[in-house]
Amino acid sequence: MQHPMNFQIQWHDQLASTNTHLKDRLDSGAVLGSGTIIAAHEQTQGRGRQGRHWLAARDTNLTFSVFIRTECPPEWLPSASMAAAIAVAELMEARGLNPTLKWPNDVMVNGRKISGILAEIATGGIVIGIGLNVNMPDASHIDQPATSLLIESGQTHNLERLLEQLCGFLGRALEKWIAAGFGGIRRDWESRIPNLGQRVTVRDGDSTSRGTLEGFGEYGELRMRLDDGRLIQIWAGDLHQPR
Ligand code: BTN
Repeated sequence: MQHPMNFQIQWHDQLASTNTHLKDRLDSGAVLGSGTIIAAHEQTQGRGRQGRHWLAARDTNLTFSVFIRTECPPEWLPSASMAAAIAVAELMEARGLNPTLKWPNDVMVNGRKISGILAEIATGGIVIGIGLNVNMPDASHIDQPATSLLIESGQTHNLERLLEQLCGFLGRALEKWIAAGFGGIRRDWESRIPNLGQRVTVRDGDSTSRGTLEGFGEYGELRMRLDDGRLIQIWAGDLHQPR
């Protein structure tokens, strides 16, 4: 398949974490092309946001990381993972599902998480790690409401072909991001956000903010209107919506 971004996919049998593997190779001087993808059949110490673990059974879900060579400013990092979330959502749509996006970068189907993304600064650029639940038959062992392509569609999927297809969407979303940062993907992002204008809570460690989700700032940071009328910007945390 022709990818606009020249992705080169390297599959590994087992890695602790595809993000860590890519970052370590870059740190030790490896010269990797922009678009290098490291995918693992099994990840033993998958890392999630906020120091959490990411669980994925062997040959069941997609776990991979992509290196983008860039000198973008650090404020652009959050929107890189938003671009990746958009690509995953587009893949879900191509498979007949109706995903939504949850700030900062979760992809949800029927209110449950199907994909998580962890973007990190690396030597010479950024690493975007994507976990996508594919052939997981049951999600009850995950510590938050989760789902998979199999649970939602009743079908199993070939992981290598699915990654190839995802690369098409990823290439287009990342090219928009490279051209203009969050501005390049704002419309694709906002059109899949279900709770604009609604009351939300964001928790980050010990701090909790409650208010109305007004939208997103220049870099994809969340803009919240507090009850006292103040508008605040939030760069990290977990978003919750009261039922
Ligand atoms: C999250 O939702 O907390 C982010 C999860 C990111 C998981 C992926 S799986 C591939 C890559 N390697 C890792 O160790 N983490 C990311």
